[in-house]
Amino acid sequence: MEQKYIDESKQGEAYAIAERPENSKKLFLESYGCQMNFSDSEIVASILSQQGYNTTANVEEADLILLNTCSIREKAEQTVRMRLSQFKKQKEQNPSLTVGVLGCMAERLKTKFLEEEHLVDLVVGPDAYRDLPNLLKETEGGSDAINVILSKEETYADISPVRLGGNGVTAFVTITRGCDNMCTFCVVPFTRGRERSRDPHSILKECTELWEQGYKEVTLLGQNVDSYLWYGGGPKKDFAKASELQKATAVGFAQLLELVAQAVPQMRIRFATSNPQDMSLDVFRMMARYSNICKYVHLPVQSGSDRMLEAMNRQHTRAQYLELIQQAKRIVPEIAFSQDMIVGFCGETERDHLDTMSLMREVEYDYGYMFAYSERPGTPAHKKMKDDVPAEIKQRRLSEIISLQGELSRKRMESYVGREHEILIEGTSKKDPNQWKGRNSQNAVCVFDKMPGQKVGDTVQVHVYSNTQGTLIGHTV
Ligand code: SAH
Ligand code: F3S
Repeated sequence: MEQKYIDESKQGEAYAIAERPENSKKLFLESYGCQMNFSDSEIVASILSQQGYNTTANVEEADLILLNTCSIREKAEQTVRMRLSQFKKQKEQNPSLTVGVLGCMAERLKTKFLEEEHLVDLVVGPDAYRDLPNLLKETEGGSDAINVILSKEETYADISPVRLGGNGVTAFVTITRGCDNMCTFCVVPFTRGRERSRDPHSILKECTELWEQGYKEVTLLGQNVDSYLWYGGGPKKDFAKASELQKATAVGFAQLLELVAQAVPQMRIRFATSNPQDMSLDVFRMMARYSNICKYVHLPVQSGSDRMLEAMNRQHTRAQYLELIQQAKRIVPEIAFSQDMIVGFCGETERDHLDTMSLMREVEYDYGYMFAYSERPGTPAHKKMKDDVPAEIKQRRLSEIISLQGELSRKRMESYVGREHEILIEGTSKKDPNQWKGRNSQNAVCVFDKMPGQKVGDTVQVHVYSNTQGTLIGHTV
């Protein structure tokens, strides 16, 4: 049992949206994995809409099938392989159909994909999407095409994403790409390359346009948003080589948050993911200062044991993490946290596991994403450590932390009961067509009866009178 990183119901979903009427070709585009992949797919759809492709949710009518893939755990890769094998028959029947793999698996497996999975014609890594038009020309000529070159500069800053499958209310805006952290278990630095930040002007422009189009919430995305640093372009690692002027005018994450909060003062602002080692108290101060910055931080810690944190190459101790949480709660009293945890990492003992459980109790996370360690080829852990915790023990520890998180979530949800919350309506509840579904500032989902005059995108005051483990139940005030 593995809890999914993002909304499970959306994994692998393909969307059709109204695009250019003059386009005659059909693109079926499915995304797997993290929010960044979903956001990247919007860039891909935008690039291909200039090449005559509109998206379709019906795979049967597709001229081009693209899977935007995830490598984070072995299971994520298996899901994609299974999906690819389903296209085999369609490809036999329609030889002009092109099938491509994008994203992290493309980057990790490179030409292996073309050699081993004969179903694939096209392999494109996360920094090479601008090359798609050329690569498609190659496949039209009958040959396979591949570009998995990673870039130190590419941020797709000037590309206006085509918003896929959203609710028209919430949108993702990418602010950094890549990661320089080298957590020993993680494949991301290898599949997404060096960390680089996007020009703040293009971020502000995108947020302002979203507001004008009727969006009410943006989530600023990066592997490590708190490490955002704009000094004129190039990877963060090269900042030392920047000119004096570049250094003096550099923009960090707290400043970027403030710029966005001021540029779209009615827009709700969220961000993900934060890494404890890079998070400054200034970010919490901005949250306290601007009411439109949501009072919620996803702050993965991975383990509550100092031994494990060190083995994972996380650059902080348990005590430092707890201190950060405490400071945050002092600056933003109503703040909520969520976590990512890995159980069964190399050498993890029962003692380490208990440390993780006690840390969870201490922080009282609203919710979390929990995983059994999955060894990834090429990572430092794979090269230098032993994946020595037996699968049954990983599973048992995983169930224990999932069940503990369940208790904590229930407790946190209970603490929201009996109060009024500002809820942004995102759509109709899946369970009851007479109810709305939205979230409060702390990112807790809330359902409540629809009232005349209310619509998707409205922000309403809701009195919460009850809760389940993961949902608040209320009525409009
Ligand atoms: N900073 C990134 C982290 C990406 S990976 C972000 O934007 O969220 C998301 C989560 O997957 C990690 O926090 C970690 O908990 C989990 N994860 C990463 N590699 C893993 C592995 N090899 N096995 C199990 N879980 C892993
Ligand atoms: Fe992975 Fe650690 Fe970066 S989890 S994405 S290497 S912060």
